[in-house]
Amino acid sequence: QTNSAWGGRFSEATDAFVAEFTASIGFDQRLYRQDIEGSIAHATMLAECGVLTDEEKNAIVQGLNEVKDDIEQGRQQWSVALEDVHMNVEAALTAKIGSVGKKLHTGRSRNDQIATDIRLYLRDNIDHLSAELTRLQLALIELAKGEADTIMPGFTHLQTAQPVTFGHHLLAWNEMLQRDYERLQDCRKRVNIMPLGAAALAGTTYPINRARTAELLGFDRPSTNSLDSVSDRDFGIEFTHAGALIMMHLSRMSEELVLWASAQFDFIDLPDRFCTGSSIMPQKKNPDVPELVRGKSGRVYGHLISLLTLMKSQPLAYNKDNQEDKEPLFDTIDTLAGSLRAFADMVPHIQAKKDSMRVAAAKGYSTATDLADYLVKKGLPFRDAHEVVGASVAFGIEQKKDLAELSLTELQNFSDLISEDVFDVLTLEGSVAARDHIGGTAPSQVRKACETALTLVKSR
Ligand code: ARG
Repeated sequence: QTNSAWGGRFSEATDAFVAEFTASIGFDQRLYRQDIEGSIAHATMLAECGVLTDEEKNAIVQGLNEVKDDIEQGRQQWSVALEDVHMNVEAALTAKIGSVGKKLHTGRSRNDQIATDIRLYLRDNIDHLSAELTRLQLALIELAKGEADTIMPGFTHLQTAQPVTFGHHLLAWNEMLQRDYERLQDCRKRVNIMPLGAAALAGTTYPINRARTAELLGFDRPSTNSLDSVSDRDFGIEFTHAGALIMMHLSRMSEELVLWASAQFDFIDLPDRFCTGSSIMPQKKNPDVPELVRGKSGRVYGHLISLLTLMKSQPLAYNKDNQEDKEPLFDTIDTLAGSLRAFADMVPHIQAKKDSMRVAAAKGYSTATDLADYLVKKGLPFRDAHEVVGASVAFGIEQKKDLAELSLTELQNFSDLISEDVFDVLTLEGSVAARDHIGGTAPSQVRKACETALTLVKSR
């Protein structure tokens, strides 16, 4: 007994292992909703074009809705013999409404069908992920507002560089996510193109109305070339690339959260419910959520390389290779959804330990640049000022004192341009407040930047 969907030219049944090996139903069943949505639009268009009668169309639409219901109620038995979600759904439909069900595939191929399903599925998920990104951005901006005056050390080379405000640091994270959001939206434009009508590869002989199907499915337009339509997966690669960048950004945030939660930094406290303990060391509270998110970035990078390699050198048009696009795409979506959700839930509850941030900012000569700028404003060329401050830092290290702890006379040993007002710039507050321009770390700028960011995010 040969396969019911294509067995006509075959004289023996598919090898049992080959059926198992080539089937995609194990993972593509999650496309059922998009598959049914696409089929309903296709049937509706066929009826409008006179290819199906209204009665046939109505029977098909009603049957498909029942199949969807069966799947959602757990009544659907997926069959490996039926290979994939498309043929499983069609067989279930035919079992319900009889041979009219067999007319659904008129003017269509699984090749344009799967390309359509993935695009619909990605579109839905891009919208979900965008909403999660928005939720995370709002949480970061909210937190930043409350921490606009909180001073922490800023780092370069992970060495104390200059004081910054914690709010400013959080807004840096928001900037990364803002670009990620824009990238997803840009990718969505190329996802939202409809392949249906390309059929197997060359188009179809029926008098179809592709613009109508596109409209019914909310696509911006039908695709332009049938060969490209069934074989293109670069929209999926692009999505995974945008996803890899999101994970890269989340991994950077994770790394900082993990460092900050350590006893050595002691900058933040993460809520207990986002941490776990150790079965042997009673004192432990481990930042598992950021650690795991940092680790999960690797999966998405891997999927990006998988998909690029999957498409490499594929001749036109559809090749079965493309069946391998689903698992990397699905796992990319799942990883992103989980990681963004965990972050969006956790960020509002990050507690800044302002005192230890401050103590850390006061260490490491973080206001040395301010002293150099002070000397420049008194007329010394910057290179000379750099030299003078370098010498005073060396003196401070020797004395185990920070710059602000040196006396005026000690400071004046390095330059007679220094007077009493030097202590205004050597303080942490003076240092951050002086960086008062667009993009600077001054608390007043951070407050303004929060408003601007909020307006941007809320305009979505
Ligand atoms: N399961 C297939 C895929 O994921 C659907 C398209 C199959 N087309 C075919 N001619 N075998 O790509």
